[in-house]
Amino acid sequence: MDSTAGLLRDAADRSIRYLDTIGARSVVPTPAAIANLAGFDEAFADSGIPAADVLARLDQLGSPATVASAGGRFFGFVTGGALPATVAATWLAAAWDQEGGMWATSPAAVAIEATAHRWLLELFGLPAGTASAFVTGATVANLSALAAARSAVLGAVGWDVEADGLIGAPPLTVLVGAEVHPTVRKGLGILGLGRNCAVEVETDHQGRIRPERIPRIAGPTIVCTQVGNVNSGAADPVAAVCDRVHPDGAWVHVDGAFGLWARASAKTSGQVVGIERADSWATDAHKWLNVPYDSGLAFVRRGELLRRAMALTATYLPVATGRQPDHYTPELSRRARGVEVWAALLFLGRNGVADLVERCCRHARRFAAGLAAAGHRVMNDVVLNQVVVNFGPAEVNDAIVAAVQVGGECWCGGTTWRGERAMRISASATGAAPAGRVENRR
Ligand SMILES: Cc1ncc(COP(=O)(O)O)c(C=O)c1O
Repeated sequence: MDSTAGLLRDAADRSIRYLDTIGARSVVPTPAAIANLAGFDEAFADSGIPAADVLARLDQLGSPATVASAGGRFFGFVTGGALPATVAATWLAAAWDQEGGMWATSPAAVAIEATAHRWLLELFGLPAGTASAFVTGATVANLSALAAARSAVLGAVGWDVEADGLIGAPPLTVLVGAEVHPTVRKGLGILGLGRNCAVEVETDHQGRIRPERIPRIAGPTIVCTQVGNVNSGAADPVAAVCDRVHPDGAWVHVDGAFGLWARASAKTSGQVVGIERADSWATDAHKWLNVPYDSGLAFVRRGELLRRAMALTATYLPVATGRQPDHYTPELSRRARGVEVWAALLFLGRNGVADLVERCCRHARRFAAGLAAAGHRVMNDVVLNQVVVNFGPAEVNDAIVAAVQVGGECWCGGTTWRGERAMRISASATGAAPAGRVENRR
């Protein structure tokens, strides 16, 4: 068992056992499993222990205290599972242990990421020349795209923000929908534009920006839109926003953390018509594509702008001739996370991605229909994979959400939507199915 081969086989066996039993276990860990986590809280020892014992301890203490979000009954936040093909690909890529940012450190990682990039542009229908960054999640994808946006709109008035920073820079206006995801604000804060400086544009009853309420624009401006409202699933009318602000030179960014995947199916793509007219996009692969965490994607139409914001040189670093992933990401060194995206797309194919999206939307509609039939008020138009349901007064809602969460059969989160407490249900995982009927993974 001490050999590397024995250790890796043991890891595979334990992983297989974990996934084989996930459908039968409580979604949330038992109190006993939580109590056992105290076993991790030990003193840092002078001497190590055999690797097999490290793995055994991880499995014995850790596995039972995980949330079974990789199964089919976790409907919280917007949480994907992980397609078996992507888990297996991750195992192999972990064994490779590649620094995925440079050809010199991993020709395989660079080539795989280049193919995943090309397939994603096709899948989302994004313009040729668009650059991508494979990052940790949509938070960093938004940040990366907004860094390019900041560079572009200030560059257009003669200011080099990469070189000179923001002190003394021309004023920059940021517009966001009133339902903007907080991670966009966080990105604006990190970029020195301020979390609270963005001007909010009024949204409609589904949380969509009302383009006619966008104020007149003058000077460097970034407009942040969203496809896939975290509560309702609704998409901003991005094309109408482009119509309104592009003539004045504004940059339009799309936060499509999960909603961008609506492009993958003819049944949902109608909601995201015209998003290819935007200047940048962010999405997650670890949500709807069902690859392991952490995997987000930023896209910037004029790829050189993302590169301008992110690339660096050093005398010890090789000069790339082709696409070099680390020229587009905040990180220099990073894991080869394009591998799982590539594996998912190769395994599913175009039709499989469409099926995955459609299946989750079907489950959301089924949830909504069942809850409505039982007399509960579904608060959103169920246009995608999100359901918001109201069970009455706030205390009643919160009590029901709490009861569901401790019950262990499935997991749904609480939210406040349009001023009322509610439960939100997100069908995003590959095995997702309303509780009681867990479908096999493909
Ligand atoms: C619309 C939207 N944007 C951004 C994010 C942040 O994504 P991540 O947690 O992958 O960084 C989320 C997460 O739920 C989201 O729904």
